Amino acid sequence: MKLAITGKGGVGKTTLAALLAQEYADMNRQVLAVDADPSPCLAGALGFPSELRSKLHPIAEMDELIEERTGAKPGTIGGFFTLNPRVDDIPERFSVLYKGVRLLEMGSVDLGGSGCICPESAMLKTLFTHLLFRKDDVLILDMYAGVEHLGRATVDFVDAMLIVVEPTRRSLGTAGQIKRLAQDIGIKNLWLVGNKVRNQEDIDFLESETPGLPLLGFLHVDLAVQEADRLGLPVYEYVPGLKKAACEMVRKLEAGQTEVL
Ligand SMILES: Nc1ncnc2c1ncn2[C@@H]1O[C@H](COP(=O)(O)OP(=O)(O)OP(=O)(O)O)[C@@H](O)[C@H]1O
Ligand SMILES: [Mg+2]
Repeated sequence: MKLAITGKGGVGKTTLAALLAQEYADMNRQVLAVDADPSPCLAGALGFPSELRSKLHPIAEMDELIEERTGAKPGTIGGFFTLNPRVDDIPERFSVLYKGVRLLEMGSVDLGGSGCICPESAMLKTLFTHLLFRKDDVLILDMYAGVEHLGRATVDFVDAMLIVVEPTRRSLGTAGQIKRLAQDIGIKNLWLVGNKVRNQEDIDFLESETPGLPLLGFLHVDLAVQEADRLGLPVYEYVPGLKKAACEMVRKLEAGQTEVL
């Protein structure tokens, strides 16, 4: 199961990614969670202890590794470098495992056509494609906010894309944009996840205003989410209501996949 999580900035992509990753891990599935945000936060939401977090560095910032693999220093424009560097050892070598979730930080990845042709983007695109081709049991991609980085060549491989929304017109507007882009590049299995929902009115609003997408589930607003963050604890364990919601979402996703097969 390969899941990409998208949505407007701050809607709860990282929170959802952490919940789903932990839910799958607790089902004894092999999970690789990938933080593709330039300022990574997934380790925090998963409650990784600080000694493990200090071992994580975004691949995008590993200048020496990028130079070793591509043959050119990051930031170089022009000149020669390989567009297809070796990346197969990276997921194991640079990820950290905690409570059954393997986490890799990629840093910002521009998968669209607009990114620079430079060593770091060659490296990240190759790595991303490699991750999508790998036979990981469960891959969860916590994507950067916005839509412009979704590339045709790579995101095709995800089994489902989850678009996180808050009960606001603005975040639904972004979801509509993401939907159009995702459909343009051929992703069919798209779901909406309503986050920070306060009451039935919010649920009704999301159900009536959805940009034509099925709702996978809802996460209630809960101040304990911020508390977990401050305490450095996993949101999955600290907020039982959200754990239960994640469990139901996974059940629905798995049932959907069985139907497709
Ligand atoms: N269900 C919830 N209840 C209360 N607060 C929440 C909930 N979900 C997320 N938050 C809070 O909202 C903020 C943004 O959440 P999160 O980091 O998961 O969003 P994001 O979409 O990944 O953001 P970014 O676009 O910056 O990566 C955080 O402070 C988080 O604690
Ligand atoms: Mg995030």
